[in-house]
Amino acid sequence: MPPDERKLVTIERHILDQQGQHPGATGRLTSLLYDIALAAKLIARETTRAGIANILGATASENVHGETQQKLDVFADQVIFRMNDHTGRVCVMASEEHDDLLHIPQGNKPGYYVLIYDPLDGSSNIDVNAPIGTIFAIHRRIEPGDGRGTLADVLQPGHKLIAAAYVIYGSSTMMVYSTGNGVHGFTLDPSIGEFLLSHSFITIPTPAKYYSANHGKQKFWTAGVQHYIEWLQGLDAADHAPLEHRYIGSLIADFHRNLLRGGVFLYPADARQPSGKLRLTYEAQPLAFLAAQAGGYASDGVGDILDLQPKSLHQRVPLFIGSRDLVEQAEAFLREYDQVWLAQYHTAR
Ligand code: AHG
Ligand code: MN
Ligand code: MN
Repeated sequence: MPPDERKLVTIERHILDQQGQHPGATGRLTSLLYDIALAAKLIARETTRAGIANILGATASENVHGETQQKLDVFADQVIFRMNDHTGRVCVMASEEHDDLLHIPQGNKPGYYVLIYDPLDGSSNIDVNAPIGTIFAIHRRIEPGDGRGTLADVLQPGHKLIAAAYVIYGSSTMMVYSTGNGVHGFTLDPSIGEFLLSHSFITIPTPAKYYSANHGKQKFWTAGVQHYIEWLQGLDAADHAPLEHRYIGSLIADFHRNLLRGGVFLYPADARQPSGKLRLTYEAQPLAFLAAQAGGYASDGVGDILDLQPKSLHQRVPLFIGSRDLVEQAEAFLREYDQVWLAQYHTAR
């Protein structure tokens, strides 16, 4: 019985195979993705040991958003930066946990890529043992050369991304990535410390099964979002099957479930957060890239997330992401009922 081919495909081998698809490939992206996979293994080890390794709980510091930083946020942030600050593959980095750009330290040669990341997504779930994750976005630098990267290198539209990945630390640790040739998932086998191919060419299935929204915010939603939620729940006149509701409070876990089962995640603008909560450069853009590669779509309620030109590093954006038909339906409800909000948002967009 030949060995199960799937079991033998490590992420390194898969990235090399993918590299073969890019004739001009130099191997630099392959090495960067390998560095990211190694950082993920180090973070995964801490998430499974958090209770024992005294890494639970909050630090005394806050991040740029005024959110208390969890110890694991800081650990994950440092691991990713240190894994990439000396390799000569990255010219600049940006992280949710730092106000400004993260430059390559003096003495290390800046490279060709830009790495933007959310080191720990779903921080509020760390101490309650619910799934959390890490999100990566990779751009090429705009100007060739070996000087240090700039803000312009980071603030590129999503359709310029050359790769995106996330890691979900759940009942198993999985890394899901795309370099523009489909979405592929790898499950960490802790006994050998390798990510092994477990989900090849992931595509969002139809019909969709779930919708994900924080109903605790319902009183602040716009009319268009209220009507959309009723539609998702089958409460409107039309006779279509209601979707089931699942919301875990970690974007990465809700996104991952909807990617594999079909569904839509929405974190809309509301009366208190007129541009939503989630950040464009290290949450919405990389996941929108992956959703599109899996046959799905991501919108800010007006149009494609991948078309947005970021204006600032931590810019927030409303997010509807997952099955294309469900996301397009959200845009239709907002066009019909939220003209006032759309007019205000358009100017900020
Ligand atoms: P982070 O932990 O990186 O700040 O992200 C948290 C985000 C996202 O993971 C999740 O979907 C959302 O916050 C949950 O927000 P609410 O608790 O307001 O629903
Ligand atoms: Mn996040
Ligand atoms: Mn985070």
